[in-house]
Amino acid sequence: MLIKYLQEKYNAQVITVTVDVGQQEDLKAAEEKAKKLGVLKHFSIDAKDEFAKDYIFPAIKANALYEGKYPISTSLSRPLIAAKMVEVAEKEGATGLAHGCTGRGNDQVRFDVTLGSLAPEMKIIAPVREWGMTRDEEIAYAKTKGIPVSDAAKKYSIDASVWGRAIECGLLEDASQAPPEDAYEWTTSPEKAPNTPEIVTIQFEVGVPIAVNGKSMEPLALIEEMNKIAGKNGVGRIDHIEDRLVGIKSREVYECPAATVILEAHKDLEKMVMTRHEVLFKQQIDAQWVFLAYAGLWVDPLKDDLDAFINKSQENVCGEVKLKLYKGSLQVIGRSSPMSLYDKNLANYNIKTTFNQSYSKGFIELWGLQTRMYNALKKKGKKGKAKKA
Ligand code: ARG
Repeated sequence: MLIKYLQEKYNAQVITVTVDVGQQEDLKAAEEKAKKLGVLKHFSIDAKDEFAKDYIFPAIKANALYEGKYPISTSLSRPLIAAKMVEVAEKEGATGLAHGCTGRGNDQVRFDVTLGSLAPEMKIIAPVREWGMTRDEEIAYAKTKGIPVSDAAKKYSIDASVWGRAIECGLLEDASQAPPEDAYEWTTSPEKAPNTPEIVTIQFEVGVPIAVNGKSMEPLALIEEMNKIAGKNGVGRIDHIEDRLVGIKSREVYECPAATVILEAHKDLEKMVMTRHEVLFKQQIDAQWVFLAYAGLWVDPLKDDLDAFINKSQENVCGEVKLKLYKGSLQVIGRSSPMSLYDKNLANYNIKTTFNQSYSKGFIELWGLQTRMYNALKKKGKKGKAKKA
């Protein structure tokens, strides 16, 4: 539909680009569809490896969960797709860039900001935002033009990358109702998942996963493998109310099996190897990082600045995390690291440890000094807060 619109309204010679980020769609069909509509050229780019290495891995290091829940599986792919579009456009001498985002979502922000930053001289066109059709009108229009629309696409609006699958629209818009089972494709329902728990070990090196159950794997293969293992056990379903950039609250349903497991494991390992000061400070950096990535500001210099901190912070994040997956539940059940700050000799409650507990008394004296001083004043009725009470 976009192609027709660009040809008719802008009298444009259209070059199409599909970028494979692991959405498991028939990209060959998309190419054929484009060619039938008379595009000048079509480019099909497999960017899955690059996506895993340069987009997902940084997100793992940053424990990236938007609003504490969403592994930004859609958001992360946008700057990569935009970069590939610009690459092709420059090579082919194009004068404009077009994308299919609506005027209500986050993706328009991500594409416009990234494309506008990477190729400021090119005109950006968002036909769907321009023509203002509703989803139903679009489906009807496609029908009249003989453009095929899949059944799944009629029911839900789906977007996927190897990091997860987002399902919106249709029945899901009633936020009070549980998502119908047919919304999910990558995860077995917990009820139907195997009756025996599956134990998985993930090994991390400098903040990123490098092996599963002792088997070394390339980034993409590792993520795909975790999608299978977690999906089979019903792990990774997410249902939350999300704040879109344009202010709209939306009910979002995701299935992100690998992301859910890997992020949980990574966070756990960080807590074992980082000092508490690092852990607490990094939480703030992580929150800022995921916000930028969600908000279409992947190419903002602040993200690079934060990456510098985050990469440095990962030097000691090495070790193994053991997890138990069982009928939709996920639990870390063990971890170990050569860089561990956990010392069982210090932590136990046995009196004969290397921890000198006679120091605790003095520590507490100083730790609570100001708190005690305040409360003494309060007791005498001297403090404002006490008077009001
Ligand atoms: N809300 C998510 C995001 O902005 C996912 C959007 C997915 N798009 C879709 N058509 N289902 O990143």
